[in-house]
Order: sequence, then structure tokens, then C-alpha cells
Amino acid sequence: SQYEFILTSRPEPGVTLITLNRPKVLNALCSPLFVELNKAVVEADNDDSVGAIVLTGSERAFAAGADIREMKDKEYADVYKNNFLESWQDLTKTRKPIIAAVSGYALGGGCELALMCDIILASPTAKFGQPEINLGVIPGGGGSQRLTNAIGKSRAMELILTGRTFTAQEAEKWGMVSRVVGEGEGEVVKEAVAVAKEISSKGKIAVQAAKEVVNAAYELNLAEGLRFERRIFHGLFATKDQKEGMTAFAEKRKAQFTNS
Ligand code: HXC
Repeated sequence: SQYEFILTSRPEPGVTLITLNRPKVLNALCSPLFVELNKAVVEADNDDSVGAIVLTGSERAFAAGADIREMKDKEYADVYKNNFLESWQDLTKTRKPIIAAVSGYALGGGCELALMCDIILASPTAKFGQPEINLGVIPGGGGSQRLTNAIGKSRAMELILTGRTFTAQEAEKWGMVSRVVGEGEGEVVKEAVAVAKEISSKGKIAVQAAKEVVNAAYELNLAEGLRFERRIFHGLFATKDQKEGMTAFAEKRKAQFTNS
């Protein structure tokens, strides 16, 4: 592989699977890993044959957080000057959907990485948490904002202040993950790939537009968000996929989208 800390594959046509691969340290997220991850994601995003991306780790750990050994001796001047962790957010600029398939530990930066994805599916073994408080810091990869948006203030506050881990079932109940899948090994990745494959069968312009407008719900107020949705919706009437999708329905046949 061209990468040291991740693996990439094509488990189904239209689906890129990215697997974090630092098994000895439970996929601790070091800077070079993030450089590779961002590169692989950009490559998939720019590849016309890819419709959706699945991001996963191992059975034991999605990722046990930012690499504590790498961070330990950093000084304020370094982290401020280099805007430490800023490049993590590059992932959220991806136009195509990213599905996180989480097994085992998703702690600190690992939980934040999952929260940056568009959909989270969890294995019953998944253990989420923001334990940064135990290291004398706070979440720095978006956790204080994205976790709060996902599960509400009181729960996010309790979890971030105590650092306690929470289960896949809790995450599902609170709406942070869309589903907890079956027990079997590899089950969560299989399921995520199936969802990615289905998304990949839709018109790519509509998929990109849908992702864009849902994400706007986290950035804009309601009036702005509704106006944004309406404009993007109107814009889709300029696409061939809209003509094809609606004509196919009227003709009682399956649509053949051309992503144009
Ligand atoms: C570096 C890590 C690591 C991490 C685990 N390892 N997590 N190394 N950074 N975040 C390493 C361990 O040092 C150990 O290496 C090996 O992985 C296996 O871990 P063990 O602790 O031996 O495994 P286990 O006893 O099963 O415990 C698993 C664990 C524990 C509960 C997940 O490893 C743990 O608490 N890890 C740290 C979790 C954490 O605090 N994450 C938040 C990081 S801060 P050796 O060489 O000893 O075998 C963060 C926020 C930063 O992410 C700000 C924004 C991103």
C-alpha cells in the first residue's frame, strides 16, 4: 500500500473503505496518520467512480484518541503557531458521504473523528467517550461542539466533565449513532459498506446536495437553513438526473442517473 498508517480498498463498486491501521496503539491518531487519511479521503472525493466512503478501525478500537505520546511534550507556542489539530477538520469538507463503522474504543479524538463523519454505525462493542479531562485538557477536535449538538447539553456536559465512557446502546438512544448493528466480527463494516453501496446507486449530484443541506442545519439558523434548502432544491431542476428520476417514475422504470 502507498500508506503506512491506513489501508484503503474497494469492497464494492462505488465504495472506498478506509481502515485506520496502527493496531499496536489502538489506532492512536498521530499527525502523519491524519495526513494520510486526508489524502485518501480527497482522492476518493475526487474519484467519479466513488459514491461514498466508509471509515473504520479494528474490532478492538476505532481509535483510542489523539496520540498522547506525540502530544505530551508540546508547548503552547507550538500548538498555537502550527494550529495543532486544525487539519483534522479537512475531513468535514468532503462532498461525498462518509460513514463511520465503529467497533471498540472511540475515545477522545477517536470519538471526535466519528462525529465528523456523516453517519455513524456502531457495533455493540463500541465504547465512546471524551476522556480528555483526565489528561488535564478538553476535547480539541470538535467534541465540545459536535457531541453537544448530537446528544444535548446536559449529557455532553456530564460526559466531558467526568470523562466516563458510554456504550453503543446509549449513543443510539441519544441519537448520536444511527444504529447498533449485530454482534458478529466485521458486521459493522459490512453494514456500513451496504449503506455506502446503496447511497452510491443514487444520483451523485442529489447526494452531494442532500449532504450539504443537512449539514447546513448545524451552521445556519432555521430561516437561513430553509432558504438554503429551497435554493439548492430549485437548482436540482437544472440537472438531467432530476428529469431522468421523475420521468423514470412516470414510466414505471428504474432511473438511470448520469450524474449530470
Ligand atoms: C497513544 C495509546 C493511546 C493514545 C492507547 N495507546 N491509546 N498511545 N495515544 N491515545 C497505546 C497504549 O499506550 C499501549 O501502548 C497500547 O496502545 C495498548 O493500550 P493499553 O492501554 O495497553 O490497552 P488497554 O489496557 O486495553 O486499555 C485501552 C484504553 C487505554 C482504555 C483505550 O489505552 C486508554 O485509556 N487510552 C487512552 C485513551 C484516551 O485518553 N484518549 C484520549 C486521548 S486525548 P504500549 O506501548 O504501552 O503497549 C485526545 C484529545 C486530544 O484524543 C485533543 C483533541 C483531539
